[in-house]
Amino acid sequence: MAAKTLDVDGLLADPATRVVVCCGSGGVGKTTLAAALGVRAAESGRRVVTLTIDPARRLAQSLGLTELDNTPRKVAGIKASRKAPGGELHAMMLDMKRTFDEIVEAHASPQKAAQILANPFYQSLSSSFAGTQEYMAMEKLGQLRKSDRWDLIVVDTPPSRSALDFLDAPGRLGRFLDGRFIRTLLVPAKAGGRGYAKVMQAGLGVMTGAMTRLLGAQLLTEVQTFVAAMDTMFGGLRERADATAKLLRAPGTAFVVVAAPEPDALREASYFVERLVEEDMPLAGVIMNRVHRTTVPQLSAGKALATAEALEGDGSQPSALAAGVLRTHAQRVQIQDSEQHKLAGFGLAHPKVRTTSAPAFAEDVHDLAGLRQLAAALCEG
Ligand SMILES: Nc1ncnc2c1ncn2[C@@H]1O[C@H](COP(=O)(O)OP(=O)(O)OP(=O)(O)O)[C@@H](O)[C@H]1O
Ligand SMILES: [Mg+2]
Repeated sequence: MAAKTLDVDGLLADPATRVVVCCGSGGVGKTTLAAALGVRAAESGRRVVTLTIDPARRLAQSLGLTELDNTPRKVAGIKASRKAPGGELHAMMLDMKRTFDEIVEAHASPQKAAQILANPFYQSLSSSFAGTQEYMAMEKLGQLRKSDRWDLIVVDTPPSRSALDFLDAPGRLGRFLDGRFIRTLLVPAKAGGRGYAKVMQAGLGVMTGAMTRLLGAQLLTEVQTFVAAMDTMFGGLRERADATAKLLRAPGTAFVVVAAPEPDALREASYFVERLVEEDMPLAGVIMNRVHRTTVPQLSAGKALATAEALEGDGSQPSALAAGVLRTHAQRVQIQDSEQHKLAGFGLAHPKVRTTSAPAFAEDVHDLAGLRQLAAALCEG
């Protein structure tokens, strides 16, 4: 059975599509494609916001993202469509720490919030705990969706080694904040010196003693104070994570897995696709990015190489030049064939998954014209 094609224009234009999540392994082009899909959807008349994470500097500049202020800004240079006017693109960069601070502010009294925000343990957790970025991306998505200002939200996902981190990290952070380690620490801070049973005291004394040696007394106190202050928020954080998880499964959300025609990225895409299907998440399809295409597909590598060899025999400069061009062409065809072979393998393994491909450009894609061109190549084949 031939793999079905992912109709990207159809997906973007469908008013029922409200959230597109671009995920995939590191460096495959999630951020670039999230921006390109945003441009495409806006230029076909939709009011779009793209949430980008850690975009390259030049891309950020082209989108008008000069400061990290956690608010969507209108992107200049979007071409209105005559057929479907009214499209707009807004873009924002995720400010992980700011987003975390906002949650604390929303869940705690001003006094308690100030106490948490000033806590050194909180400060390091909110800016560097593995998984915080994933959690905050989901959180921000939830906020954007709730505001209902947009027809379509295109979400980029954080750079992580494994694409699955995006699905796992929020739960991991929740478990950490909710977990036994932190619960244990919480008891002495809450109960103070006298309040709790002797048995507990003995047990915790040993543990806290070991932990103090391990972490240092200062840090341990910081963690305890932080946890005590955060206690009221645990429920809140879990509820929010649950709500976002629900949003990701809701009708109107579409996952687009980005991959590249190379073994690691395809393997990651495979895992991810299987996981989405297993968990009943709405998978739209896979975009194979940076696929090499030749402009002269009818000339095989073998023929080009044989001709090059014949030409090189005559020793003239024009022949040598032509031979060079032919060899370059042969190399491209070989790359293309090898990529097509890998892509066909993916198609066989996942016959029900819709796929499409975007060409490899000779240079990085960092401006609006490049994004537009990439999206057009992706949508028009
Ligand atoms: N089709 C393409 N042709 C040429 N260059 C591309 C293409 N797609 C992406 N790139 C370039 O590849 C680089 C990586 O892309 P991008 O930052 O979008 O990947 P990413 O998946 O977001 O990476 P990370 O996992 O680090 O967040 C960028 O420099 C981008 O311009
Ligand atoms: Mg990225």
